[in-house]
Amino acid sequence: MEVRLSERLKKLPPYLFADLRRKMREAQARGVKVVRVDIGDPDFPAPPAIEAELVRAAQDAADADRCRYGCDRPVAALRRSFQDFYMRRWGVKLADDQVVATSGSKDAIAQLPMAILNPGDLGIAPVPGYPTYNIGHVLAGAVTHQVPLLKENGFLVDFDAIGPEVRGLAKILWINYPNNPTTAVAPMEFFERAVEFGRKHDILIAHDSAYSENTYDGYKSPSILQVHGAQEVAVEFFSLSKAFCMTGWRVGCLAGNASAVAALGKVKDNVDNGTPRPVQFMAAKALDLAETLIPPINAVYERRRDLVVDALNEAGWHLEKPKATIYVWVPVPERYNGDSGAFVTDLLEKTGVMVTPGRGYGQWGEGYFRIALTYPDAVLADAMRRIAEF
Ligand SMILES: Cc1ncc(COP(=O)(O)O)c(C=O)c1O
Repeated sequence: MEVRLSERLKKLPPYLFADLRRKMREAQARGVKVVRVDIGDPDFPAPPAIEAELVRAAQDAADADRCRYGCDRPVAALRRSFQDFYMRRWGVKLADDQVVATSGSKDAIAQLPMAILNPGDLGIAPVPGYPTYNIGHVLAGAVTHQVPLLKENGFLVDFDAIGPEVRGLAKILWINYPNNPTTAVAPMEFFERAVEFGRKHDILIAHDSAYSENTYDGYKSPSILQVHGAQEVAVEFFSLSKAFCMTGWRVGCLAGNASAVAALGKVKDNVDNGTPRPVQFMAAKALDLAETLIPPINAVYERRRDLVVDALNEAGWHLEKPKATIYVWVPVPERYNGDSGAFVTDLLEKTGVMVTPGRGYGQWGEGYFRIALTYPDAVLADAMRRIAEF
């Protein structure tokens, strides 16, 4: 029997990396040695101090709940650690009902629309952008209005360009700075503008801050919750994945507007069983030690960023060094007329180097490709050499 798929599943676009993986396997089958620099998943482990806390908590015989459902027996220290971290990092005070732990941000980003969107409702998502904003809408039966992130606007959402009809119908607007894939950062005034837009049009502003801690050259990324009145209209998805090299351990939080936090909490209570307790202890420790653990991680990415950008500029590009994220966003060479798919396929076939085509992040991602800094220096150097020759 072939299962009959729901209409909403049929509406999901193909998973961004599935097509690329197929092309990669085909190239490998033809004997091409593939050098991957495409996926943003840290290649080195979480710092030893927090791995040790994970092991301690997993083996703590005094904690009879250590292998039980993480949602029913949440680690109280974790909520406090999120609250302390937001206060130390941004001066933002979060009440107990303004923060809920999540199993990383992807799951929660997909779950929040289920809590607030009805079939046919409208959500606004930036393009190029993380695909899960749209996927969450589609799974809730809702519709996405795409807004472009353009180079001439510094890849920031242009609120004035969102027409009255869309403003009137939309219930949620997603933003993400530091931004994947463009690497753009947003000034405080942008977040102020976002909050004002949300308040004026009764739209929840959902800020995905997955890369808030991956910053370089002394740059510090703001939180939308620093804006006066933000907690009335905004929420922020914070994740430990990229900040602490914890992608596989699955932990983060949603912070801000209490009713949205409660709504997500209700979905979570019904569809997942929470992050394992040992990982919650690990996360609490990570947040408590953030100021000492994060700089050495960022030093690695900053060194790799310099390696990649310097090599590409020597090969003829004119790139500025991104201040944040773990990516470099690069225009495709002119001879491809902005066709990122053709460039990426050609590059893979002729050099074995696999990067991500901007088109995979939506129509306004076209014309660019993305390199991830989550590969050893030698691999990145090898890839840059091949790209330069190509
Ligand atoms: C913009 C953005 N948001 C969210 C995520 C999800 O990260 P996680 O679920 O590990 O917190 C990613 C992962 O790459 C991302 O790039």
